[in-house]
Amino acid sequence: MSPRPLALVTGASSGIGAHLATVLAERGHDLVLVARGVDRMEALGEKLKAAHGVAVHVVGLDLTSIGAGARLEAELAARGLAVDVLVNNAGFGLRGRFVELDAARQMEMIQLNVTVLVDLTRRFLPGMVERKRGGVLNVASTAAFQAGPYMAIYYASKAFVLSFSDALAIELEGTGVAVTCLCPGPTESEFANVAGMSDSPLFKLNAPMSAEEVAQQGVVSLLGGGGTVIPGFANKLGAWGAGMAPRSVAARLAAKMQPPS
Ligand SMILES: NC(=O)c1ccc[n+]([C@@H]2O[C@H](COP(=O)([O-])OP(=O)(O)OC[C@H]3O[C@@H](n4cnc5c(N)ncnc54)[C@H](OP(=O)(O)O)[C@@H]3O)[C@@H](O)[C@H]2O)c1
Repeated sequence: MSPRPLALVTGASSGIGAHLATVLAERGHDLVLVARGVDRMEALGEKLKAAHGVAVHVVGLDLTSIGAGARLEAELAARGLAVDVLVNNAGFGLRGRFVELDAARQMEMIQLNVTVLVDLTRRFLPGMVERKRGGVLNVASTAAFQAGPYMAIYYASKAFVLSFSDALAIELEGTGVAVTCLCPGPTESEFANVAGMSDSPLFKLNAPMSAEEVAQQGVVSLLGGGGTVIPGFANKLGAWGAGMAPRSVAARLAAKMQPPS
């Protein structure tokens, strides 16, 4: 058994997830990397093993496939691995009108951003509580703080993640298990391309933060005892403003940042 804690990172093949894995390795964690892009995770794993002497396990998995959570849990059990830190990072967005966007793709977004996140937490959290140590880092977004017309499901999914994380954090007080909810604003990654947002005012008017900086702040919070983290001053201000404004005003402002193309 490795003396190092083990962190499972979903969506570790690119962007924020790859950097979360990197920061956790720098801080002495063995890793389980999960996503569909096996080659990219293998390459990252080799780099992290060489640089930090940690063990890296790569699991190629479409997390939206039926029974994915159960298969992942069984795979780790077969390898004798207990998860100390769970990073629920895998997720994607879609820009467009709810009635026009592909229905199946929208259901897949709810599956990945919400259902898979809850499923993995339910599978790996009891072990942490039993061992009286560990942590869960959920990646939400500044989208969590207001409704988002033309990205209605994405914003609602991230509001779920923030609400769920806030509640869990209180339920887990005194257990030795920390909960962090990381709420990035626009960040350099493949997200904007996948979501069809590269040409949106949200990404054009704001200089996206580096995924490395966002990941660093998330891990510092988790290892420091947890909490909600909004990286960057402008993002903090935006989230605060959204909370102060009437909900309909905040939602109309969000709509202006991502009009349907
Ligand atoms: N970038 C931003 O501006 C921003 C802002 C706020 C919040 N976020 C959130 O940050 C998180 C990470 O996104 P990112 O910005 O790093 O975008 P990204 O570069 O597109 O990364 C998304 C990750 O999720 C994985 N993934 C997607 N579908 C999957 C599936 N079906 N099964 C398994 N893994 C899957 C992808 O890997 P594979 O394709 O290899 O499977 C990839 O590793 C997301 O939850 C996103 O909502 C991003």
